[in-house]
Amino acid sequence: MTDRALPAVADRECRLLERESLGGAYALLTFEHKEIAQAQAGQFAMIQPLSGADLILRRPFSIMDTEPRNGRFTIFLKAVGPGSAAVFQLGEGEKARVLGPLGHGFTPPASAERVYLVGGGYGVAPFALFSRALNEAGIDFHLFYGGRHARELPLVGELERRGIKITLSTDDGTRGEKGRVTAPLLDALASEQGRARLYACGPEAMMRAVADIAAGRNLSCEVSLDPWMGCGVGTCLGCVVKIQEAGELSWRHRPACTEGPVFDSKRVIWPDHEHE
Ligand SMILES: Cc1cc2nc3c(=O)[nH]c(=O)nc-3n(C[C@H](O)[C@H](O)[C@H](O)COP(=O)(O)OP(=O)(O)OC[C@H]3O[C@@H](n4cnc5c(N)ncnc54)[C@H](O)[C@@H]3O)c2cc1C
Ligand code: FES
Repeated sequence: MTDRALPAVADRECRLLERESLGGAYALLTFEHKEIAQAQAGQFAMIQPLSGADLILRRPFSIMDTEPRNGRFTIFLKAVGPGSAAVFQLGEGEKARVLGPLGHGFTPPASAERVYLVGGGYGVAPFALFSRALNEAGIDFHLFYGGRHARELPLVGELERRGIKITLSTDDGTRGEKGRVTAPLLDALASEQGRARLYACGPEAMMRAVADIAAGRNLSCEVSLDPWMGCGVGTCLGCVVKIQEAGELSWRHRPACTEGPVFDSKRVIWPDHEHE
């Protein structure tokens, strides 16, 4: 993380090529840009409409998919407030200001490891791109995708079309298994014979639960943190998280935008695990 250099990032104008509504506040937006289309799974982009919206800051969105040869990249967006709503409302042919690809993505697993991906809410987005990389590397993986209600799993169809093996869960039982996404994960790990590696992206409570499961079994685990981000390039320090590197006696604030958003879960000091 700290020793990985990032290339300089240019401010880019990207045209929206396709907009697919997934119902409610959810949409898939496909933009044109050949450099951003080279993104690795877990990287993100800072996006704001070029005109129209009265926004000072861009907002961060994971790169959900890419077509490197065609110079296209897709984000999966949930409109929750003014910044995401402005991007949500972009029409086909309109342009956005985009910084990307940003940050460090997921570390590829060793070929003998079985991979368990755990996605909650919009946190499932980077696993679409990661799944493609895992398939290309011939690595066996399974995705656990959870939400509070069936309507909070809008990406299921898209992921199933890619042939991804998925276990669904909802807090209220309206789709898949009833309960937390970690319950079927624990079942799967109980019968796991080989070496497993976990990756989680979603609400903090979910990622912490997955990190605890990994720690209890001495498994490698990466989490993709999503603190508030103002600049995406390491200058505003709005996104700092507490990270304790191996061999260091205490944690240090690290900008998640440039040193993450993906971190080894063992290195993350979660908010109420603090020892100031
Ligand atoms: C690395 C990264 C990747 C992300 N990837 C995606 C993605 O693929 N798709 C997607 O829809 N969103 C993603 N997000 C979240 C997205 O950036 C926020 O929803 C957006 O910035 C909110 O801005 P706003 O102006 O719309 O709403 P605001 O007015 O800023 O917030 C509206 C509500 O959302 C909550 N909120 C704001 N930011 C976050 C956050 N980061 N995590 C949890 N809750 C938040 C606020 O507390 C508030 O309740 C990502 C965030 C990060 C940091
Ligand atoms: S978002 Fe500005 S330093 Fe990370």
